[in-house]
Amino acid sequence: IDQPNVITCKAMVAWEAGKDLVMEEVEVSPPQPQEIRVKVICTSLCRTDITAWESQAIFPRIFGHEASGIVESVGEGVTEFVKGDHVLTVFTGECKTCKHCESKKSNMCQVLGLERRGVMHSDQGTRFSVKGKPVYHYCAVSSFSEYTVVHSGCAVKVSQQAPLEKICLLSCGVAAGLGAAWNVADISKGSIVVIFGLGTVGLAVAQGAKLRGASQIIGVDINPEKYEKAKCFGVTDFLNPNEYNEPIQQVIKRISGGGADYSFECIGNTGMVTTALQSCCDGWGLTVTLGVPKTNPEIASHYSAFLSGKTLKGSLFGGWKPKSDLPSLVNKYMNREIQVDEFITHNLPFEDINKAFTLMREGKCLRCVIHM
Ligand code: APR
Ligand code: ZN
Repeated sequence: IDQPNVITCKAMVAWEAGKDLVMEEVEVSPPQPQEIRVKVICTSLCRTDITAWESQAIFPRIFGHEASGIVESVGEGVTEFVKGDHVLTVFTGECKTCKHCESKKSNMCQVLGLERRGVMHSDQGTRFSVKGKPVYHYCAVSSFSEYTVVHSGCAVKVSQQAPLEKICLLSCGVAAGLGAAWNVADISKGSIVVIFGLGTVGLAVAQGAKLRGASQIIGVDINPEKYEKAKCFGVTDFLNPNEYNEPIQQVIKRISGGGADYSFECIGNTGMVTTALQSCCDGWGLTVTLGVPKTNPEIASHYSAFLSGKTLKGSLFGGWKPKSDLPSLVNKYMNREIQVDEFITHNLPFEDINKAFTLMREGKCLRCVIHM
């Protein structure tokens, strides 16, 4: 059997919070037991990469978690993958054996869940180094590198026919939005939906709501440039809070006849969670959170929201179990049942990744796909 060697390749390394990534020659270790090494083909930039790069303290680090690639080698004990398989990486894995993986109610794998310390799940080590210095991971994916190592439970095998330069979006943002609409909220036909934040995540919720037959989809964003794109994903009413002299929840209550059936926070602003809760109706109004805040992590609400029967529900990755559910989402894309291409506003070569950061920070893109 061939023993995989260390690979030297190019990666975009973050050395400091908020500073441009730097292209470096990195050494990528062979995959350890139960791990696979993946040649990254495409990675798209997600807002959460930017949030972590701006606000966290773990450096040097390789960000990137929304990606597609091809298996280059497999570690000991891996039976699910062989060299050449096409995969999507996932920031929250599925071990298939823990209590949560066995439950229909959860996608919060207790073994391969969201990794926050910048290391691999199995041994708390890293698989990257630059000139002998360890480089930390992000969400145990780190796709801003030509090659990366991931746990085999954090990759999903997909059809070889599916275009990797498009379906990378299903590895995080688009899947998260569709899943929040379908699995978490379970939107019913004829509903009124309000979405705070019309980035890729919010517009994927809109698409999910439209496909469920929602009658009104209200989109709230402070960037008026988002409206054109929002229409093509099903948003029927666009509200810019800066254009009103009254609280936006009051406007929403008025145009929805007493509040929305469902509201979604897709900004990452905990103040907006409160607003979202106030925008839905008494009795059955449901607010789902998808955003990841950078600051002010605590959520405030008057208890009367709950006395009047409202529900606040959290979600991660739209409730999807990645291995069990993502292949069918890829098939839906292949059958043209869901739109993915329309979220891609820019395609950039790997060396221009800092441009993607700028575009997203300036609100000028939905998804930038980086081609390695
Ligand atoms: N009010 C209304 N809209 C806002 C506000 C605000 N105060 N602040 C920002 N927005 C809008 C932005 O104009 C943008 O259109 O929210 C949208 C956020 O979209 P993106 O930055 O493209 O982010 P996206 O990738 O869609 O992620 C949204 O989900 O996964 C999490 O970490 C992610 O918290 C982030 C959220
Ligand atoms: Zn599990």
